[in-house]
Amino acid sequence: HGFFTFDPGFLSTASCESKITYIDGDEGILLHRGYPIAELAIETDYLQVCYLLLSGELPTQEQYQQFRAHVTRHTMVHEQMTSLFKAFRRDSHPMAVMCGVAGALSAFYHDSLDINNPKHREIAAFRLISKMPTLAAMSYKYSIGQPFMYPRNDLSYAGNFLHMMFAVPCEEYKVNPVIERAMDRIFILHADHEQNASTSSMRMAGSSGANPFACIAAGIASLWGPAHGGANEACLKMLEEIGSVDRIPHFIARAKDKNDPFRLMGFGHRVYKNYDPRATVMRDTCHEVLHELNVSDHPLLDVAMELERIALSDPYFVEKKLYPNVDFYSGIILKAIGIPTSMFTVIFALSRTIGWISHWLEMQSDPASRISRPRQLYTGAPTRHVTPFEQR
Ligand code: CMC
Repeated sequence: HGFFTFDPGFLSTASCESKITYIDGDEGILLHRGYPIAELAIETDYLQVCYLLLSGELPTQEQYQQFRAHVTRHTMVHEQMTSLFKAFRRDSHPMAVMCGVAGALSAFYHDSLDINNPKHREIAAFRLISKMPTLAAMSYKYSIGQPFMYPRNDLSYAGNFLHMMFAVPCEEYKVNPVIERAMDRIFILHADHEQNASTSSMRMAGSSGANPFACIAAGIASLWGPAHGGANEACLKMLEEIGSVDRIPHFIARAKDKNDPFRLMGFGHRVYKNYDPRATVMRDTCHEVLHELNVSDHPLLDVAMELERIALSDPYFVEKKLYPNVDFYSGIILKAIGIPTSMFTVIFALSRTIGWISHWLEMQSDPASRISRPRQLYTGAPTRHVTPFEQR
């Protein structure tokens, strides 16, 4: 087939060079700018990780304060965007709303659209980091018919998100620090993961010169699918469907059955053929949250633990190296915090926004970068000729 390499699903194609994230899937290693993910999750906060992914270094305290001030300056969205939300059906999936409103930022912020202007690129990056939690919380508030809450810039990034999700205008809302920390960890653990489908979509859209808000919409759309970011929602639905430990063998048998499309959600990964290092931190955080909320006997957690135990010892999963991934535990935490299942992938999207922007910015300054234009192996009809319509 001539000059092309046939690589469906890009199993062995590196699409770019990048200095942002390193993954060794066999060893279960994930590094951001050289730092192990578990250290970042325990020693830093999400805004520090954002700074790291963008700039390459962890911030000094002074740099951190400046960065935070920049982020908080942009947390509000244009007031007219509220009308945009109101045009959606209330029962829309929040990811459907997010695809639309994130792309619509390009209709509101004309000073961030010139991709050849470094100032525009920078302000677009800040706008996205700052506004995604606001848009995410608005998509939730709209779905339950409650008023939108303005951001509170005195709170942490995670604390402000929880405030916009759960506060109501007539009551005081206090953020629980354990839950705030857990939310922050969920953000950190989803911040970047090199050339996954959504980041590749972001880069591919950006390779044509499209503006960053349009590219983010492409990333969000790609994340939505159950094989990618939609897995956290699908995983929780699966745990609920399994319901009790005694029903697990039936689902394990289904997962192994080649004629059944059912898969164990939250298991397996294209790159990790070992324990997902994010899942380890997520599991510890999950226990902390359940302890804080006094949930000692949580049926979903019992199902999850038993599922994990069986999957890690069952020859099918062992031979295929199917380990729990990041989404296996995140859903249980989010559910315990009171976040509805339909918001899980939205939270993934807002966390991953920093990864998408960092890759988009890196691509803009890469001299080797050019429009993404894969080829194909044509398997259709050879040349033939049109029979006139009246003769067909
Ligand atoms: N349950 C049962 N069997 C599985 C599973 C699973 N979750 N995942 C893979 N397999 C089997 C699959 O049937 C195949 O078997 P065989 O070689 O006999 O045909 C083998 O393992 C390899 O699977 P694959 O589909 O060729 O692997 P892939 O790299 O194309 O897919 C994956 C990776 C993540 C899409 C897949 O493992 C999956 O569908 N997992 C469940 C969904 C999920 O949890 N996704 C979240 C990924 S982590 C977060 C993110 O990156 O967004």
